[in-house]
Amino acid sequence: MWSAIAPSNIAFIKYMGKSDVASNLPTNSSLSFTTKNLISKVNIIPHKGDIDIWRPLDDENFFTLDLNEFEQAKYLSHFSRIKELFGVRDNFIVESSNNFPSSTGIASSASSFAALTKAGVWAMCEVSGADVPDDGYICEISRLGSGSSCRSFFQPWALWNSAGVKELGFDGFNFLNHQLLIISSEKKLVSSSQAHQLVKTSLLFQGRPERAKLRLERLIGAMKKQDWKETFNLCWAEFMDMHALFVTCNKPFSYISSKSMAVLNFVLGFWSANDDGPVVTMDAGENIHIFWRPNQADVKKEFFSRLPIEDFGVIDNEKISGSVR
Ligand code: PMV
Repeated sequence: MWSAIAPSNIAFIKYMGKSDVASNLPTNSSLSFTTKNLISKVNIIPHKGDIDIWRPLDDENFFTLDLNEFEQAKYLSHFSRIKELFGVRDNFIVESSNNFPSSTGIASSASSFAALTKAGVWAMCEVSGADVPDDGYICEISRLGSGSSCRSFFQPWALWNSAGVKELGFDGFNFLNHQLLIISSEKKLVSSSQAHQLVKTSLLFQGRPERAKLRLERLIGAMKKQDWKETFNLCWAEFMDMHALFVTCNKPFSYISSKSMAVLNFVLGFWSANDDGPVVTMDAGENIHIFWRPNQADVKKEFFSRLPIEDFGVIDNEKISGSVR
């Protein structure tokens, strides 16, 4: 059996819209923070059956994953791609799970495809007798399964642009404390793959690559200067820009529920009253990611003492010890 784990990552500048669908190449560069304790685990087990099989990985530290038929097919098709690359014809059982709820806007596709690619490549190298390729190559294979997964190979920050993916560091911002406000654990109705296609039908998509480029440059500048407020402003504008594409495409949909909107309004009120607060972002889902610098302990305490926390769950990235829940 071969096993691998990989962390999730959450984009501050979003990858939304593809310039090449088959290779998952983005229409704009993206920047993400690797959420080191939110992880997926994959086991690959040889079996004698005629086809590869997916099943949830059974581990008390992980949520039992429930992939629908389409999701299983997508996952196994990526595994087949890896087998083909190494000329392997044997069949396997692929087990996977995450230590956080999946398909709810927590970027589970990033960690699950990165972990599958790592375990798959290691397994196929051993079975075929090939040398294990370097991480840069494994990351490119992973991108073919899920674009955002290529950023999970780098930390603390990953920049994905036309030259590839590379790790970045920003003094003062490398050890952000990250919490996830779980507004809902229900599976989202529109997958990110569908979203990538639909956004192109929005009139707002015209100009989106240019806006994302400008915002990325500004964000990198703000983070280099350790300008937290500007980082908040840019991240806020960025996720709202992505969500605006969702509500203005030709089959409009929204992930922002009244409950998430109430929390977002609370965040704005908190910033306006304190001239300080968390950096916030949302992925393609209802849940809200908040980030703090290590020296914001008092502000964070104040924030949580006021937040109507009984209404939803909180996953604290720092408290997921040993990389598992
Ligand atoms: O990797 P995909 O195809 O699941 O795309 C995910 C894209 C977002 O998570 C919505 C944004 C991002 O940059 O991670």
